[in-house]
Amino acid sequence: APLHLLWQVDSTNAFLLARAKQCRNGEACLAEMQTGGRGRRGRTWVSPIASHLYLSYFWRLEQGLAAAGGLSLAVGVMLCEALESLGVSGLTLKWPNDIYLNGRKLAGILVEVSGQQGEACELVIGCGVNVTMPESMAALIDQPWADLAGEGIAPSRSELARRVLEHLDAGMRDFELEGLTPFVARWLARDQFADTPVKLLLGNQEVIGVARGIDPQGHLLLALPDGTVKRFAGGELSLRPR
Ligand code: BTN
Repeated sequence: APLHLLWQVDSTNAFLLARAKQCRNGEACLAEMQTGGRGRRGRTWVSPIASHLYLSYFWRLEQGLAAAGGLSLAVGVMLCEALESLGVSGLTLKWPNDIYLNGRKLAGILVEVSGQQGEACELVIGCGVNVTMPESMAALIDQPWADLAGEGIAPSRSELARRVLEHLDAGMRDFELEGLTPFVARWLARDQFADTPVKLLLGNQEVIGVARGIDPQGHLLLALPDGTVKRFAGGELSLRPR
């Protein structure tokens, strides 16, 4: 599938979304910098030049939109395994799909839906991985962050891109055949909040509990103070330690 190598773009996700109708599965876009990098929940993703990995990947999901929630968890596993194949250790996943290194955010995933064609839906999977954070950018980021350079690991960004694309190619084929199932144990093995007291923010509502991993559909499981276990779907939820 085509790989679009761009110097500068508003957002690699936006680039593929705009041409989704012509895209083939596995078509990807890489940029040296983004002027409007997008994060989850409407946030911006700081995207300075020649510093990090900004990669988007197109897939037409035959299972339809209902499977997209599970997909974003599976992509978290694929990205962790790509990084681990380069010698990165200590990676964890924060539900649904943030990637942490030693407790600080190293990478983020943004899955956006372009449209539906019959049953199938067109998705753009965006991956941002911090490789070398420039000094001048550090202050712009409103949460604890990590970069690979800070851990003494500095793969070339092209090598990193190649690994991530390989893992996405293989992982998406598995997901298309078997859904989230082959990824659940691999996700749980990296669960940042396993058995940890957390609070979940649902808009301006707050739910307190103990995180108990995910179910086979990728819902978050929370043990509530009354002893019951409740499932939560993705979307506009934010999970915090307490
Ligand atoms: C998050 O908020 O954790 C998700 C961040 C996703 C950032 C990547 S960088 C490549 C792709 N293009 C974008 O505009 N966003 C994603």
